Amino acid sequence: MERLQKVIAKSGICSRRKAEELILQGKVIVNGEPCTTLGTKVSGNDVIEINGKTLAYEEKEYYVLNKPRGCVCTSDDDKDRKTAVSYIDTESRIYCVGRLDYDTTGVLLLTNDGEFCNMMTHPKYHLPKTYRVNLQGILTDEDIKKIRKGLKTKYESYQPARVKMIEVDPTRDRCQFELTIREGKNHQVKNMMKALGYEVRRLNRNSFADINVDGMKPGEYRKLKPFEVKQLKLMAQKGE
Ligand code: URA
Repeated sequence: MERLQKVIAKSGICSRRKAEELILQGKVIVNGEPCTTLGTKVSGNDVIEINGKTLAYEEKEYYVLNKPRGCVCTSDDDKDRKTAVSYIDTESRIYCVGRLDYDTTGVLLLTNDGEFCNMMTHPKYHLPKTYRVNLQGILTDEDIKKIRKGLKTKYESYQPARVKMIEVDPTRDRCQFELTIREGKNHQVKNMMKALGYEVRRLNRNSFADINVDGMKPGEYRKLKPFEVKQLKLMAQKGE
C-alpha cells in the first residue's frame, strides 16, 4: 500500500505536489468515489481516475528476494530505514507479501498483484513456510510435543507446526531446528519461542511453499517463473 499522491506521481502524469492539489480539489476518484484525503493508502487493485482518465494498468510482477538483515517490509518507514522493496529494480508499485522482521533473513516474495498477495497471506489458504531457527537454549522433548500439537499461550493459540532438530550444542546451550508453520501471525516464531521461555538468536526463512533462495546471496532477487506463480496459486486453492 502506498500514499495516493505518491502513486499518482509515480505514474508520471504529474508531480507529487500537483497530485496533492488534485486530491484536495476532489479531482481524484478512487474506486468510483472522490477521495480528498491526502495520504490515503492505495494498492495496485484500486482503480484511480483523474479528469476522467484511469491511471495506467500495470503488468503483474512477482519476485523473490533473499532478504538481508537490516531492512523493513513496509513501503514507507517512519525511521527511514532501508526497505526490502528498494532492492528490486522496477518502476511498478510492488510491496512485500507478508512481513519478515528487520533482522529476519531469507525468502521474501514481492509483487504488485494484490489478489495474489491476499491469497499468499490469508490464513485460510495455509501455505507452509519453513524457518531455520537458531535458538538460545535447547528445546526439550516436551517443548517439541507442544509445538507439534499446537502451542497455546495466554494470548494466542497456534496451529500444529512441524519441527525438525538440526543441531544441538550443549556447551553453548544453543540449538538449531527447522520449523514449518502454516499461519503468519505477527512475530509468530519469536513469540512461540518466547512463550516456551527461549530467545531466538537468528531467524531465516528457508522457503515459502516451494520457493527458496538457494544459491542467491543476501540482497539478490529474481523474477518468479510463470509456473511458480501458477503453482503457488494452486497450492493456496488446495489448502482452502
Ligand atoms: N516469525 C517471526 O517471529 N519473525 C519473522 O520475521 C517471521 C516469522
